[in-house]
Amino acid sequence: MRIVLLGLPGAGKGTQAALLASSAGVPHVATGNIFRQAMTAGTPLGLQVREIVERGGLVPDQLTVAIVRQRLMEADAARGFVLDGFPRTVPQALALDAMLRGMAAPLERAVLLQMTADEAVARLAGRRVCPRCGATYHLQAAPPAPDGTCPRCGAAVEQRADDREEVQRRRVEAYEGETAPLVPHYEAAGRLLRVPAGGDVADVAARLRAALAGAAR
Ligand code: AP5
Repeated sequence: MRIVLLGLPGAGKGTQAALLASSAGVPHVATGNIFRQAMTAGTPLGLQVREIVERGGLVPDQLTVAIVRQRLMEADAARGFVLDGFPRTVPQALALDAMLRGMAAPLERAVLLQMTADEAVARLAGRRVCPRCGATYHLQAAPPAPDGTCPRCGAAVEQRADDREEVQRRRVEAYEGETAPLVPHYEAAGRLLRVPAGGDVADVAARLRAALAGAAR
């Protein structure tokens, strides 16, 4: 499986990518997670990207592409991957196309999780994350423990710095300006699938699996 998930911030890319990758036995490669882990660990990469991520901007293409190239060269990615949050610009998509051509392993599908900006922002308002193990929760849809801790590891869950309202707006603008043009890019390549992202997690996952199975026939 070699899949890209596209969609507004909050559309559910991370949630669905984790389910899909685990059922297919391939790695879930999320550039946002890679940047946040580097920020938490205080690595040179983390220091370089912190300000950009926290204000809702996009990390420069060259740096992001180099990180993904390195990740896709790891042994587990030879079985395939689910990419979440990458590509996010047309130059990133062109770089991915070239990278995969070089590996003789073309992208199978780009799946657009469709949702309005208002619905996506409403979802982001309820998101909480665990700073220790990285688990994602939602105050209504997938709540943490009643005392505000992570049921998996016990750390206190928190709001992502870039989920503050004014930053959310900037991330939506970045999506509309830089990422939405990937829809016609993948449509022209005959690889785009559109999946409505409303409804609960299991419904979206079932819709996504059905769309992928239908496209494989
Ligand atoms: P990134 O982490 O990729 O953020 P994003 O694209 O804005 O996506 P989100 O993680 O906000 O949302 P999601 O669609 O994954 O939704 P989720 O599943 O969590 O990137 C962060 C930053 O890193 C960027 O702003 C940028 O600075 C930088 N960056 C990353 N990649 C880059 C790149 N390629 N180039 C340049 N810069 C880059 O779901 C959201 C919430 O809803 C959760 O609480 C979840 O529990 C809940 N939920 C999910 N599905 C459902 C459902 N069906 N019903 C109810 N609740 C649900």
